Amino acid sequence: METLKRKKVKELLATPAGADVMAKGWVRTKRGNKQIKFIALNDGSTINNIQVVVNMENFDEELVKKITTGASLCVKGRLVESVGSGQAVEIQAEDIEVYGECDPVRYPLQKKDTSLEYLRTVAHLRPRTNTFGAVLRIRHAMAFAIHKFFNDKGFVYLNTPLITESDAEGAGDMFQVTTLDLANVPKKDGGKVDYSKDFFGKKTSLTVSGQLEGELGATAVGEIYTFGPTFRAENSNTPRHLAEFWMIEPEMAFYDIKDDMALAEEFVKYLVQYALDNCMDDLRFLNDKYDEGLIERLQSVLGVDFRVVTYTEGIEILEEAVRNGHSFEFPVHWGTDLQSEHERYLVETHFRKPVILTDFPKDIKAFYMKLNDDGKTVRGMDVLFPKIGEIIGGSEREASLEKLERRIDELKMSRKNLEWYIDTRRFGTVPHSGFGLGFERLLLFVTGMANIRDVIPFPRTPKNAEF
Ligand code: 4AD
Ligand code: MG
Repeated sequence: METLKRKKVKELLATPAGADVMAKGWVRTKRGNKQIKFIALNDGSTINNIQVVVNMENFDEELVKKITTGASLCVKGRLVESVGSGQAVEIQAEDIEVYGECDPVRYPLQKKDTSLEYLRTVAHLRPRTNTFGAVLRIRHAMAFAIHKFFNDKGFVYLNTPLITESDAEGAGDMFQVTTLDLANVPKKDGGKVDYSKDFFGKKTSLTVSGQLEGELGATAVGEIYTFGPTFRAENSNTPRHLAEFWMIEPEMAFYDIKDDMALAEEFVKYLVQYALDNCMDDLRFLNDKYDEGLIERLQSVLGVDFRVVTYTEGIEILEEAVRNGHSFEFPVHWGTDLQSEHERYLVETHFRKPVILTDFPKDIKAFYMKLNDDGKTVRGMDVLFPKIGEIIGGSEREASLEKLERRIDELKMSRKNLEWYIDTRRFGTVPHSGFGLGFERLLLFVTGMANIRDVIPFPRTPKNAEF
């Protein structure tokens, strides 16, 4: 027994009975009577526990008393067929070492359920729950699948900077990065802040998107993707917004808007299929506990073609709905940016399938989108999903130097700060497109969780940056 190697619970549950084994993990529950105890042990490798059977004849009562919910153990014993229901095998314990006791009075995670809001406040507890174990494993599986999808297609993973001077989306909701002493800010003669004294010698912020730098990569190596943290200081306290989230931004030379849409659809379907193929235990748990329609909803997006609709058509449908008595919280007419309630109406009530909305008014979209011939709309595309609304935003990019410069001027943006980007249109410009998938929006869809704070290990939202 001394040379036994630890096996993870996931592996043990798939091992045939008969072997001597060693398991390590945390106690989920202990039950039984004076003669025999049953311990449910979990090590995070799977949502399922391995049952450890303790025959009290062979164990010191003082030791077994220390085995309470949350305590950590090393168990050696024989893997035997389980007579109880729910598992094929269990461990007949021969030796138990308690690594760490867990005070049953102070440990807040007893059998009773604890709310998701409460769990967000207890850093050490949250990842130990079945729910967050499932979310963390699915999050990992999706990250892996994203890299696999692009790698298999020959895309290059490009790391774009987190500290930047460029406001790609032009929304202005950036977190400033500075080492200036805020109590004693250096000023220029006119009273403006003297950023030449700041760390980088200029005003810098955390990135809201890696796209602009991504375009430099795509117009060199052809097809790239980014996958990294993204920061937005928008004061949106909604179940779909984070101040720090992760975004995946593919950018492809020689793709037009149609190619862009096709890739976006293939991409999200691939990810959903990957989750169904690889995360079923966790999905079933989440389905049963939080969202009975989850697995069905995941399957439902795979079998359909997403519906492509122009923004203008979308607005007509929404206005028609209002005329027929449907009431939205926010007004809707041509020129407004759609709210999540409008997006969800199109997806869940009207079309009953994922929708790709295209050709938006130029005034509600970023400067880099390709202008249509009508001079009013741009070649953008948003992928809208059930329960979420917008999950992807993207576009064909303005490849014409002249039109791009005109748009930058119209928006009174600084051309000087963007020269490095505009150069791509000066030297061998090409049609190109890309999009951004919000990683946590994807996870909301795949896990069925209702609040975006519950699909990221350490959520950052207005007035909240715990741990
Ligand atoms: O639509 P957005 O703002 O597009 C861009 O940033 C482009 N540069 C993408 C591109 O074309 N390369 O953001 C893209 C996606 C949204 O569709 C949404 O899923 C997610 O990022 N997102 C957020 N997710 C969580 N919290 C927030 N505050 C988010 N803002 C955007
Ligand atoms: Mg968007």
